[in-house]
Amino acid sequence: MTSINNSKVLVTGASGGLGQAISKKIATLNGKVILTSRRTEIIEKLAKELDGEFVSADLSTPSGPKDLFEKVKEVDILILNAGLPATGTFQDMSLEDMKKALQVNLYAPMELAKLFLPSMLENKSGHIVFVSSLSGKAAVTGSSVYSATKFGLRGLAFGMRADLYDKNIGVSVVSPGFIREAGMFADAKIDLPKGAGTRSPEDVATAVASVIEKNLAEVDVAPVTLKIGAKLSLIAPEFSRKVTKIMGAESTAQKLAAGQKDKK
Ligand SMILES: NC(=O)c1ccc[n+]([C@@H]2O[C@H](COP(=O)([O-])OP(=O)(O)OC[C@H]3O[C@@H](n4cnc5c(N)ncnc54)[C@H](OP(=O)(O)O)[C@@H]3O)[C@@H](O)[C@H]2O)c1
Repeated sequence: MTSINNSKVLVTGASGGLGQAISKKIATLNGKVILTSRRTEIIEKLAKELDGEFVSADLSTPSGPKDLFEKVKEVDILILNAGLPATGTFQDMSLEDMKKALQVNLYAPMELAKLFLPSMLENKSGHIVFVSSLSGKAAVTGSSVYSATKFGLRGLAFGMRADLYDKNIGVSVVSPGFIREAGMFADAKIDLPKGAGTRSPEDVATAVASVIEKNLAEVDVAPVTLKIGAKLSLIAPEFSRKVTKIMGAESTAQKLAAGQKDKK
């Protein structure tokens, strides 16, 4: 098992709502943070506050992950949190936006894991955390492409966990539901259907620290009602589609897509 204390920890998406909370939590636990994202001004300020480092990178470009790796070279813990909401119905989304979502949400984390893994194998220690979503368990209207990337991340992570378990490299998934106060859902400023429930960015950060320290396969960060809903959609997808439609999934999805249209 890899402890956060004194470890070198790279956090992608560190300028965002969840990335900032995760970075602060890791620094509180005495991890040495390296923050990365495109918005340099945010990560530079946060890195100073957390006594860490920062590296700007655009993970949507073909060379983005490799360029980031070349600047950092080696870490003990990799937290792959950067992501785009990619909301909107399949019929309305452009191929260009689909490719970008696949690149940022799925291929870049896969490439970064592949690039940083050899030194972990050599050190016989390390941990990789993928930040997925409850949308990686349940797909509703307006989330097809986002869900494709988040289901994909979970499949990648569980397969990698089995590949690497005996080599003392931990691989975990954290799957948040709707997160209030900061992050891509909060930024959209929409009301949820009654009973949906939210969690805080700090809850996500606590889950990230706990999957590393306890080497857990997955932690969901959501109220029990949403967790049950996600399970139900795997067992009975058609029933689940009907229930979410009655609960107003279409209007929520439209508002979410409108509120997140600038997140690209
Ligand atoms: N908030 C929620 O309710 C929620 C729920 C479930 C899952 N999640 C997942 O949690 C993760 C963090 O999301 P968040 O809520 O913190 O969203 P956010 O506030 O929008 O932050 C997204 C982060 O990803 C980075 N990013 C986006 N495109 C990038 C690119 N091309 N290159 C490099 N970095 C890029 C952004 O940095 P720059 O813009 O500075 O590049 C930012 O730091 C995502 O994977 C998301 O899917 C969030």
